[in-house]
Amino acid sequence: MAVPDRVVLVTGAAGGLGAAVARRLAEPGTALVLCDLSGPGLAAVAQSLDVPVLTRVVDVGDAAQVDAAVAAAVEKFGGLHVMVNNAGVIAPNARIHNLTAADWDLQLRVNLMGVVHGMTAAIRVMRKAGGGSIINTASVAGLTAWAHAAPYCATKAAVVHLTKVAAVEYAKERIRVNCVCPGAFTSGMSEKIPREAMAALEAKHPLGFGTPDDLAGAFAYLAGEESRWTTGAAIVVDGGYAAP
Ligand SMILES: NC(=O)c1ccc[n+]([C@@H]2O[C@H](COP(=O)([O-])OP(=O)(O)OC[C@H]3O[C@@H](n4cnc5c(N)ncnc54)[C@H](O)[C@@H]3O)[C@@H](O)[C@H]2O)c1
Repeated sequence: MAVPDRVVLVTGAAGGLGAAVARRLAEPGTALVLCDLSGPGLAAVAQSLDVPVLTRVVDVGDAAQVDAAVAAAVEKFGGLHVMVNNAGVIAPNARIHNLTAADWDLQLRVNLMGVVHGMTAAIRVMRKAGGGSIINTASVAGLTAWAHAAPYCATKAAVVHLTKVAAVEYAKERIRVNCVCPGAFTSGMSEKIPREAMAALEAKHPLGFGTPDDLAGAFAYLAGEESRWTTGAAIVVDGGYAAP
């Protein structure tokens, strides 16, 4: 197999946004490494792509599994140019006094530590290679307060800030680190939000809910050469949610 021009790893790749990002970045010359908890979900996404693909069942909350996925990318395709830390979860719609320690643990483990593990593994490879692009999926919930979603908001806010710190730390090594802050869009995650809460949320989006494909272009921009002078950015793509 010819060495690809660009190797992209996407976590949460069996989900709505991860699959859309994988499809958008699957250009000729690109090889994809798709990671998720769901093996069948990954197989379905991989089947629809016309570029070399490696799928890995990975729990992003486990640093060793993430390290192994990045090592597999390097071994199979010769490097890692773009790391998309996209896996995320949202736990029960509840006020803070009704949340359990387990609710907090899960969101800290996946939404924050999953990104930490992905960034750490990617940075180690990219430093040696002389650069790369890391894209984290945050949320407008990391920029504005969503009632009944404290762990989600807190972990996404942490991802925004972590992105900025990493951008400053690694700019000299040509590793760009950015995040995308989506508004609400239709996906497996939004199906977990109660219907009434979804109706109230949709009313706050002047352009209505988005779809994963409405977001994929922002990832393509951050993955590519056009964004060569963009780092530490939190790009809001939200149908106008955060405008007021
Ligand atoms: N859907 C929205 O309205 C919305 C809004 C803003 C931000 N986001 C963010 O977008 C990202 C993608 O979410 P989505 O809407 O596509 O949801 P989704 O539920 O369709 O996809 C999330 C994927 O992450 C995977 N995943 C969960 N835990 C994992 C773990 N421990 N290890 C590996 N994979 C794991 C799931 O299996 C799933 O395939 C998330 O980070 C989410 O927080 C979503």
